[in-house]
Parts: sequence; C-alpha cells; structure tokens
Amino acid sequence: MRLSHLLDRNVRWAQRKTEEDPTFFVRMAEQQTPRYLWLGCSDSRVTANDVLNLDPGDVFVHRNIANVVHTSDMNFLAVLEFAVEVLKVQDIIVCGHYGCGGVQRALGDDRSALADHWLQPLVMYYRKNHAAFDALPDQLARHQRMVEVNVEMQMRRIAQTPIVEAAWASGQTLHIHGWVYGIHDGLLRNLCSSTSSSSAARDALESLDARASHPFEPQPAIRLHALDAFASCCEGHGRTS
Ligand code: CO
Repeated sequence: MRLSHLLDRNVRWAQRKTEEDPTFFVRMAEQQTPRYLWLGCSDSRVTANDVLNLDPGDVFVHRNIANVVHTSDMNFLAVLEFAVEVLKVQDIIVCGHYGCGGVQRALGDDRSALADHWLQPLVMYYRKNHAAFDALPDQLARHQRMVEVNVEMQMRRIAQTPIVEAAWASGQTLHIHGWVYGIHDGLLRNLCSSTSSSSAARDALESLDARASHPFEPQPAIRLHALDAFASCCEGHGRTS
C-alpha cells in the first residue's frame, strides 16, 4: 500500500507518546486549550510545533505561502476569530523565515503564477520602496529585510482586523509578536520593536515604509549570546541587524 510507511510511523509515534505519558491522548480527546496562535509559512521546514518544541494541543496553527494576511481571506479570519473569541489565546505569533521562497519571488519579476496574486502586497511594498532595498549591500540582505518587513506588515494587518480591535476594546489581553525563523540554524529571532498589544500601540507605530530603510532593533544581549553560541557556523548570516 502506498504510504504505509507513514501509517507505520504514526503507530510508532502514538505508542511512544503513550509510553511517555499514558494520559496524553485521553487529555487530547477532552478538548484543545492551545495558548498560542501561529501564523507561519507553508514551507515544510518551518513546522510550528517542532520549532517551538511543543506537543499537539499547545498551538493553534494557520499556514500559507509567505505567512500573508489578506483581510478578505475567510480561511484566516475564521481561524483568527476562533482563536481569539473561543480559545482566548493571549499571544499571536507571526513567524516568517529566512530563505522564504514566497518572499524571494516577490523580489523578482516573474508574475505568471497564482502565487503572485497572493504575494501582491509584498510586491507592491518592494516596488514602492525599491530605492531603500537597492541601498542594501546584496541580495541576501534585501531578502532578509523583506522577510522582516513582511512579518511586521502581517502583524499590522492582524492588529487592524475588527476581531482583534474588538478583543482589545473589551479589555482582553492579546499580544501580537513578530518572529523570524532561521532555516539554517533552527533558531527564532524576535523582531523586538514590533510587539503590538493595543489599538493605541498599533496606531503609534511609524510608517511601514520607514522599515525598508533601517534595520530592525538589535536582539537583546542574552538572545544574541544564544544565537552566537548555537549558530557560530553561520556567523553573520541570518542576523536581523
Ligand atoms: Co516561506
């Protein structure tokens, strides 16, 4: 049977989980109480539970090409509404990743695929701010800046939805975080300046266009130390500043 190896893997996984924690699936069957909503890229290398080292049940996940929010996307809006209004998650994580093929495509000229409709907000941003991108030293730097800008763009779009506005207006605690994952070292970077937790904070943000021309805030020292310690083989690559 085709794919029988996957079904076999599933059995071994379920057995291992049960051995480690005999009540695991009993608890899972009762209800899900994830604490986080994750918006990430569909890229097969960036799986939320794996990179966060979390079990099933811990994170509510939505993924699409280049982790883009379209405010007419019923799929994402339904996920967001359920996460905020029913699951009552307090933290929404928008996670982009370096080496993102979707972001890379938005920096190119090919517009022949459906994905180019999907990526239109990135394309428009890049075209509008191309002078700032051209000033960066190389194509890798342009790609990384666009990955970071894209995360912040989608954070802002989430923060502008009536779903999130209503949650904030009702006093619900809800933070929006922007992270970037490094495929080359397995580490998450926090785009420090970008956490948004109220309508006032959102409205006080500087124009996203300004983001094209200056780096994101440096990582805190302790995080930089960890990145250096774990990613010394990739020195100078994948850092956000
Ligand atoms: Co990607």
